Amino acid sequence: MISSDGQARILMFAVSAGWRRRGFGRQIMDAFVQRCAMRGLRRIELEVRISNEEAIRFYKRYGFDIAAVLPKFYTDGEDGFKMVKHL
Ligand SMILES: CC(C)(COP(=O)(O)OP(=O)(O)OC[C@H]1O[C@@H](n2cnc3c(N)ncnc32)[C@H](O)[C@@H]1OP(=O)(O)O)[C@@H](O)C(=O)NCCC(=O)NCCS
Repeated sequence: MISSDGQARILMFAVSAGWRRRGFGRQIMDAFVQRCAMRGLRRIELEVRISNEEAIRFYKRYGFDIAAVLPKFYTDGEDGFKMVKHL
C-alpha cells in the first residue's frame, strides 16, 4: 500500500511453504521495488516479528535495514522490527 505521506508499506509478504527457496520471493520483491521506483517513491517500510529470522535475512538481502524495535507489536505480545529500504 501507499501511505498518505507517499511511502510504500508492505503489509504482508509470503510465498507458500512448499514453493520457498526457488526464487519467487526475489521476483516479487524485485518487481515491487521497481514499481515503487517508477512511481517516484523514496522509501519502503514493513514490520516483521523479531523471531522471523528467515524473513529478516531475506529483507536484509534486499537492502532493508532494521530502523526500530516495536515493543509488543503483535497481538500475542511478540516484539516487531520496523525495517526500511530507501530507494
Ligand atoms: C521470506 C520469504 C517471502 C522468501 O521467499 P522465497 O521465495 O523463499 O525467497 P527466494 O527463493 O526468492 O530467495 C531469495 C533469497 O533470499 C534468501 N533466502 C530466502 N529464504 C532464506 C532462508 N530460509 N535462509 C537464508 N536465506 C534465505 C536467499 O539468499 C535467497 O537467495 P538465493 O536464491 O541466492 O538462495 C518466504 O520465506 C516466506 O514466505 N516466509 C514466510 C512468510 C513470512 O514470514 N513473510 C514475512 C512476514 S513480514
